[in-house]
Amino acid sequence: MKTVKLIVVGFGTIGKGTLEVLRAKHRDLMEKQGCDVRVVAICEIDGTLVNGKGVNIDSVLKAAAAGKLRDHPDWKNMKSLQAIEEIEADIVLELTPGDIKTGEPGISHIKKALECGKHVVTSNKSPIALKFQELTALAEKKGLKLRYEATVGGAIPIINLYRDSLEINKVGSIYGILNGTSNYILTKMSEEDVSLETALKEAQELGIAERDPSYDINGTDTAVKLVILANSIMGKKISYKDISVKGIQDITPDAIELAGKHGFVIKLVGDVNGLEVSPRLVPLHHPLNVSGTLNAVMLDTDIAGTLTLIGHGAGKIQTASSVLADVIDIMKDMQDS
Ligand SMILES: NC(=O)c1ccc[n+]([C@@H]2O[C@H](COP(=O)([O-])OP(=O)(O)OC[C@H]3O[C@@H](n4cnc5c(N)ncnc54)[C@H](OP(=O)(O)O)[C@@H]3O)[C@@H](O)[C@H]2O)c1
Repeated sequence: MKTVKLIVVGFGTIGKGTLEVLRAKHRDLMEKQGCDVRVVAICEIDGTLVNGKGVNIDSVLKAAAAGKLRDHPDWKNMKSLQAIEEIEADIVLELTPGDIKTGEPGISHIKKALECGKHVVTSNKSPIALKFQELTALAEKKGLKLRYEATVGGAIPIINLYRDSLEINKVGSIYGILNGTSNYILTKMSEEDVSLETALKEAQELGIAERDPSYDINGTDTAVKLVILANSIMGKKISYKDISVKGIQDITPDAIELAGKHGFVIKLVGDVNGLEVSPRLVPLHHPLNVSGTLNAVMLDTDIAGTLTLIGHGAGKIQTASSVLADVIDIMKDMQDS
């Protein structure tokens, strides 16, 4: 049986969710994929947990839950770039928060991993939106895989669906709801007739919205995801600065009520062809009228027709599904070669 070694960089919500799913599915992976997947390093901002034979996932998750990761016997004072370079592994999971202005620390992590001969799976939007051409070219030059399904639409397998099943198609347009926080707020405003401020406060209390939700509300997060879809599926070469962005900050309960009276809901829609993110009127029975934190993406293709994908756009376990789908995809290639 082949052993596949992972380095996890960034041990927050998605890092922990990925380890939880790996723990639950370890036997399945052995039986179905014929691979023994081991996590040999977990990098945090100030150090790294290292065990060449594979960390004990149970003990690591328990230590993290108790806030005692740094007391774990495998903890070392080693920064992430050093760990990526020096620790023997097959795949680096880059799961850090992205700065949309610089793409760091993700760009440096991804480049270092590829330069050191390691495949990369990331959930981090910023490096892929900012440096798509450069990073994919580097991966290709090195004969390695760079996978990023979790960067758009959380659990929705849109990028892999295109790559695995739709490549014969020409995709004419991609549009949809790509931000769960703003969709939750608009749904709440529409169903309960509350103000944006009240809906946002509730989203924050429920842990749906971040403490600083400005990129969700002002449309930047949707624009970044739109860029990833445009470049990776439609072969465009755009940056998020090419997108005209209008968020939901000015939507009032009156506007939502008026839309409702005419049989519409207001949704924050990203549209690749229009290079635009903006609140739009969506008919009540349209596939894009999804509620709460759900995301919905539509692809117009020349052969398969129009496809709609609906699912969880975030969440630690749901997003881990996409992260691990990419890992499995790489493992299959490793077995073939
Ligand atoms: N949460 C979701 O549902 C979701 C869904 C899809 C995609 N994503 C994306 O996935 C990524 C991770 O999200 P998350 O929710 O897991 O974020 P998170 O909870 O903030 O976790 C990120 C982790 O990375 C660590 N980190 C920051 N800089 C680092 C560095 N230089 N080296 C090593 N570790 C570093 C952070 O440490 P500190 O806490 O010490 O800073 C934190 O533990 C983000 O890019 C996010 O946009 C998230």
